[in-house]
Amino acid sequence: MLFSKLTTPTLFLAALSTASPLPAHTQSLPACPTTFTTSTAGIPAHEIASLFSSTTVPLHPSAAADIEHIRATVALYGIALDGKNWPMLEQVFTSDVRANYSAVGVMEGIEAIQTTLEASLEPVGFTQHQFSTTVIQLCRDETVDAATGEHGGAAPGKTAAVSIAYTTTAHFPVGPDGAMLPTLDAAAVLTGYVMYQDVWVKEEVDEGAEWRIRKRNTITMVSLNLHHWTVEEAQD
Ligand SMILES: *[C@@H]1O[C@H](CO)[C@@H](O)[C@H](O)[C@H]1NC(C)=O
Repeated sequence: MLFSKLTTPTLFLAALSTASPLPAHTQSLPACPTTFTTSTAGIPAHEIASLFSSTTVPLHPSAAADIEHIRATVALYGIALDGKNWPMLEQVFTSDVRANYSAVGVMEGIEAIQTTLEASLEPVGFTQHQFSTTVIQLCRDETVDAATGEHGGAAPGKTAAVSIAYTTTAHFPVGPDGAMLPTLDAAAVLTGYVMYQDVWVKEEVDEGAEWRIRKRNTITMVSLNLHHWTVEEAQD
């Protein structure tokens, strides 16, 4: 387990001494669900609804900008992958991100994400990530790493957030010359259904603050190979 709950008085005092007063709207936020902040594996889809229904609070007006920024960053991830723009992922993830992409593997640090995703999409002509259902909850992250005494998802005094985002991703082949095919049989498109489960932190940058993903787990809902499906159906 990457992040575990605070266990020793020494660490508790260490955490308190570095904490600064929370912004007003952070104080009124619920604690982040620890299932999100501590789990190194994806949370089963049937458990997600109860996690959000127990933590949702009325939205403070100042939180709307944070939520919109997070939603835009979810989309930025999609266009980075669709454009095979690996440097752009630095606008999406923290440098010390830990991401568990189940079948693709567990990646530690932004460079591991960049090289692993580049390699895994190398055989694919191009992708289209289509984000749909997205739920974002601002929260206070109270998990503390027992080994380091550091907060699990966010620095002390910072607002954190947890989110889920569904994406349906189409993987398209390209022609022998590497160019996009003018027309495409649906059977040649591989469609994946994934739920991203993210823990966000707000990082200070020159011109203000940016939201970045510090921890990501993925749940693959189903990976549908339309080619095989079509062939089998046709043979029935
Ligand atoms: C990564 O996620 C998968 C799927 O949720 C899980 O089975 C696996 O145990 C996780 N790996 C680690 C190291 O937690």
